[in-house]
Amino acid sequence: MSDPQTAIDAATAAERDPRIHERTAGERQEGIPFVGAGPGDPGLLTVTGKELVEAADLVVHAGSLVNSELLATYCADAEQVSSIGKDLEELVPLMAGAYEAGRSVVRLHSGDPAVYGAALEQMDALEHDGVPTYLVPGVTAAFAASASLRTQLTLNGVANHVAFTRPQGTTLDPSDDHIDEFVGMGDVTTCIYLGTHAIAETMDRLLAGGHDPETPVTVVYHASWPDEDIIEGTIATIGNRIEAAGYRASALVIIGDAARKAGYERSYLYGEWANRTAADGESND
Ligand SMILES: C[S@@+](CC[C@H](N)C(=O)[O-])C[C@H]1O[C@@H](n2cnc3c(N)ncnc32)[C@H](O)[C@@H]1O
Repeated sequence: MSDPQTAIDAATAAERDPRIHERTAGERQEGIPFVGAGPGDPGLLTVTGKELVEAADLVVHAGSLVNSELLATYCADAEQVSSIGKDLEELVPLMAGAYEAGRSVVRLHSGDPAVYGAALEQMDALEHDGVPTYLVPGVTAAFAASASLRTQLTLNGVANHVAFTRPQGTTLDPSDDHIDEFVGMGDVTTCIYLGTHAIAETMDRLLAGGHDPETPVTVVYHASWPDEDIIEGTIATIGNRIEAAGYRASALVIIGDAARKAGYERSYLYGEWANRTAADGESND
């Protein structure tokens, strides 16, 4: 196997991949598919993802973030390997070896691989070694959380923007933590991934930054799983509530009014504007 950094350097320096213009998302391609498993509920795996997993001989999955029920339902007969605790030097030869031996390999990421997925470095290393790869999207945790909350992340009169973000910590420098700015913008729904263990510290920073302590904060633990739990609070209260609940991982933190549907307005879409947009082309969905 080539050095992963060499593969990343080569991939970033290369010309644009011609497959970008030849293929569309969802189209079956040659190689190892990097499939978004969705947030947990096996029913939220895409049809393409399900078919690929059902046909797989080897499924390399994201450990506890992928529901074991999904693996039991769709690929009980396949060899299943968790990627947790394995580095690129172990994962890439494992997948490349199986693919080159003629086995059908699927790499299953939680949610959508494009959101905090670290799929690309695996794909580039495989491609550098001559193994083609491609992506099959999935439902990211924020979308499952929003459905559980029976709301929208963008909501007319409340939130015009959505930020997918993470808090500072071991792998993110404080200067790259932008939660304070997103919340300060006012009409952004801020969706914090990878931050369950740090909710209290994150809220303390927001309070120190002068944000309204009454700003709604909603935490969705295990969205779409049978043990899904929703804890509501504010910047001032959510830290204690989460500590009492004992959650340290696997939750999405949503800051903003959209999670509560508070104060939203009728959109133009189903009003007089609807007739005009039919002619204009683009409209809200
Ligand atoms: C490594 S990131 C992967 C995100 C994933 N690629 C996605 O699109 O949802 C893992 C983080 O996603 C969030 N997460 C993943 N699945 C979740 C779920 N079912 N419910 C709530 N949060 C979830 C948690 O914040 C967790 O710490």
